[in-house]
Amino acid sequence: MRTIYWDYENECVRLIDQTKLPDSLEVISCKSVEELAEAIKRLSIRGAPALEAAGGYGVALAANIAKDMPAAEAKEFIRYKAELLSKTRPTAVNLFCGIERVLKTALNAEDPEEIARLALDEAEKIANEDVERNRRMGRYGAELIPDNAVVITYCNTGRLATVDWGTALGVVRSAVEQGKKVEVIACETRPLNQGSRLTCWELMQDGIDTTLITDSMAGYVMRKRKIDCVIVGADRIVRDAVFNKVGTYSLAILAKEHGIPFYVAAPSTTFDWNKSEEDVVVEERSREELTYCNVKCMKTLIAPENVKIYNPAFDATPLSYVTALITEKGIIKKPYSVNVPKVLGF
Ligand code: MRU
Repeated sequence: MRTIYWDYENECVRLIDQTKLPDSLEVISCKSVEELAEAIKRLSIRGAPALEAAGGYGVALAANIAKDMPAAEAKEFIRYKAELLSKTRPTAVNLFCGIERVLKTALNAEDPEEIARLALDEAEKIANEDVERNRRMGRYGAELIPDNAVVITYCNTGRLATVDWGTALGVVRSAVEQGKKVEVIACETRPLNQGSRLTCWELMQDGIDTTLITDSMAGYVMRKRKIDCVIVGADRIVRDAVFNKVGTYSLAILAKEHGIPFYVAAPSTTFDWNKSEEDVVVEERSREELTYCNVKCMKTLIAPENVKIYNPAFDATPLSYVTALITEKGIIKKPYSVNVPKVLGF
């Protein structure tokens, strides 16, 4: 099952509600752009490539709702809803790519029915391309994973973070598909536990050997065990840094200290190469994510309710810590200032 898709019968966006995992696998419908925007904000759908598809489908949904309106009104409605979607989460560049790509294609037409058709076609293309890109990335990245490998990963970069297959976890899946034995050590990824809830669930579904650790155990594990590499995804790669789930930077420093390769797997749509670290807005999330043990039901306090908090969702890892970037166009090594534009054609 895809993480997100268009429901042709009911003319709406359907997605796996990731806030419910691993308790239950539930698919929800978003019949309005507002519902989809809320789903993005509460992380029912998350992960940079999945957000690209969500952005695309969101504009297609707006265009579908507007198909009986007069042309000028329909265009204004679609633009307004696209703006609403773009205000949901600021860090993953893919969300904006998805929204802008569908908007640009659809608004070329004049007839609202034609706009709706073009928008949905383009959103479907984004979703299909994502799966193909992940498969290609996986094949390239698998070259870096030896047989009997032990890899550490962070957050969730699998099927659930994409339309299907995954980026960093896609690389693991491809290596396993090639017949390699791989053990994945998944960091739980506080505060929302994408690692323990989603990565462990996904990998165990596929029968991949998975061990869960808390984030603070990574250094000790690197000292005690032979770790072949750390492999993570990205929300935005600028010319001097990789933005990914907060905690990635600490993992990169630990990997360097222990002489372990640190790989970042991301599609070309995650690159925002004209920007640098200071241009990127890092999302700050609610205090309840830190003060309650289950933010959904807000029952068990795990910190004094009015303690001062700081809850950035992402951090920036300088590119100098990254051993190689794995993309759908190949593996990119240093110097990145020369090789990224060369391989990705920027
Ligand atoms: O806040 P999230 O869960 O959307 O953060 C996701 C990540 O940081 C992932 O590592 C990143 O999007 C890469 S997913 C292929």
